[in-house]
Amino acid sequence: MSENQNPQPQTGTATTDSDQSLTTTTGETVEQTRDEWTNYEFQGEAKMTVEDLDVYYGDDHALKGVSMEIPEKSVTALIGPSGCGKSTYLRCLNRMNDRISSARIDGSVRLGGEEVYQDGVNLVELRKRVGMVFQSPNPFPKSIRENIAYGPKKHGDLDTGLLARLLNRSDADERDRLVERCLRDAALWDEVSDRLDDNALGLSGGQQQRLCIARCLSVDPEVILMDEPASALDPIATAKIEDLIDDLSEEYTVVIVTHNMQQAARISDQTAVFLTGGELVEYGDTDQVFENPHSERVEDYITGKFG
Ligand SMILES: Nc1ncnc2c1ncn2[C@@H]1O[C@H](COP(=O)(O)OP(=O)(O)O)[C@@H](O)[C@H]1O
Ligand SMILES: [Mg+2]
Repeated sequence: MSENQNPQPQTGTATTDSDQSLTTTTGETVEQTRDEWTNYEFQGEAKMTVEDLDVYYGDDHALKGVSMEIPEKSVTALIGPSGCGKSTYLRCLNRMNDRISSARIDGSVRLGGEEVYQDGVNLVELRKRVGMVFQSPNPFPKSIRENIAYGPKKHGDLDTGLLARLLNRSDADERDRLVERCLRDAALWDEVSDRLDDNALGLSGGQQQRLCIARCLSVDPEVILMDEPASALDPIATAKIEDLIDDLSEEYTVVIVTHNMQQAARISDQTAVFLTGGELVEYGDTDQVFENPHSERVEDYITGKFG
């Protein structure tokens, strides 16, 4: 873990290893981040492992030496003030930052043990395994049905398999089964089953976001990344998305950025707190992070003293 880069004018007394913070001449706290605050120990397997991840945009060092294991089949929340690197971090997990020409990435990201940042990784395949849902719902201007069937069709996954041919099922049957399964899994089926051929843009914002989640499910992801997925939605639509995230985490690994701390506390199993400067300051059980954070800066942030 990186050392605090800030100059630290120290007051009189010598510091020891057990000091958790230093006081400047102006009385504010300049705290050293400690490895044990980010070294989250959990039961079960890590789905993704991030080690020593640095991201630069030109000269701007946006993420600094982030190491973090993401447990499978659970919800990991990323919180922190605007500009602290949450979206940057999320985009590293499926190499979406590759699309930003000024971005340079150092470090390691592994998915189920395989290095994501090695030559020859098939990015289309990677982004199927690690899907993404954005802040503003972005359905295709097509029918509800086509929004779901589009990805699998493009990837050739809808071609009727041997079993389906033996059972005499047509491609259209296969497609309709897939559409229904994904819409059910995204808790949208009951609201749209009678209008699958309507344009998706006619749905409400909350329905559009659940459709985008259904679309993400259609290519059988293992990890679902969500960047403030409910921040454009009203409270009722938000509650539906939160319930859905909880259900999804039984089968998928969900990583969600949220600026809403109550939301992080409600829906996540573990929480990672990033603070200004692109540092991961604390990572642990959500209850521990919110009720008893190790870091004073995290406590200040959570209790609303800054950010
Ligand atoms: N595409 C980009 N080009 C240049 N700088 C960027 C880009 N995206 C983000 N940044 C910078 O990286 C830092 C982290 O941004 P971001 O990851 O979007 O933070 P957050 O999601 O926590 O608000 C900010 O200083 C931001 O200005
Ligand atoms: Mg962001």
